[in-house]
Amino acid sequence: MTWKPLARAIETERLILRTRDERDAEWYRELVGERGVETLTLEESQERLEQFRQSTEESGIGALAIDRRADGDTIGYCALVVGRASLDEPELAYELLQRFHGHGYATEAARALVEAAAATGRRRLWSTVRAWNAPSLRVLDKLEFRRDHTVADDAGEIVYMVRDL
Ligand SMILES: CC(C)(COP(=O)(O)OP(=O)(O)OC[C@H]1O[C@@H](n2cnc3c(N)ncnc32)[C@H](O)[C@@H]1OP(=O)(O)O)[C@@H](O)C(=O)NCCC(=O)NCCS
Repeated sequence: MTWKPLARAIETERLILRTRDERDAEWYRELVGERGVETLTLEESQERLEQFRQSTEESGIGALAIDRRADGDTIGYCALVVGRASLDEPELAYELLQRFHGHGYATEAARALVEAAAATGRRRLWSTVRAWNAPSLRVLDKLEFRRDHTVADDAGEIVYMVRDL
């Protein structure tokens, strides 16, 4: 099965979703730092973005940076990824800088990406979320994902959420 490529620019009421490039290295570095697992140099951040860009070119899916239309700043990303799923039925993913949480931005961006995923011809999306991640589960709930099954690994329970397109 071949899918149409994911849109490279999407506008919503408050946001613009757009392809990432090397100018995104600074905020991406900050976002990775906020995970509390690793610290990237600016150069490493650039390299990682370049790897993502190549992977998007090959697969047709990947991440879009999220800019606020009013302020012109970048607040995070929203993505379609293979992740724990597949290219045919990929995963929806999103991550925002902490200072932008709690304004409905993830829901607004992810809703637009669900529509864009449907426009590629795909029929189903997944999202896998740690059971403790209430905000992320709530975003998926608002987007009409339903709980399919759970698996467990060393770090605890992972909930597989699914949505037909
Ligand atoms: C998950 C994440 C993207 C949400 O971003 P956001 O812009 O704050 O999300 P929204 O504002 O669109 O929606 C969040 C919802 O969760 C709710 N919420 C927030 N904290 C909550 C909590 N502790 N318990 C229950 N619900 C909670 C909010 O009230 C809101 O629901 P509402 O609109 O019904 O009030 C953001 O928290 C994030 O980047 N987290 C780190 C990365 C991450 O976990 N990504 C997902 C991996 S699966």
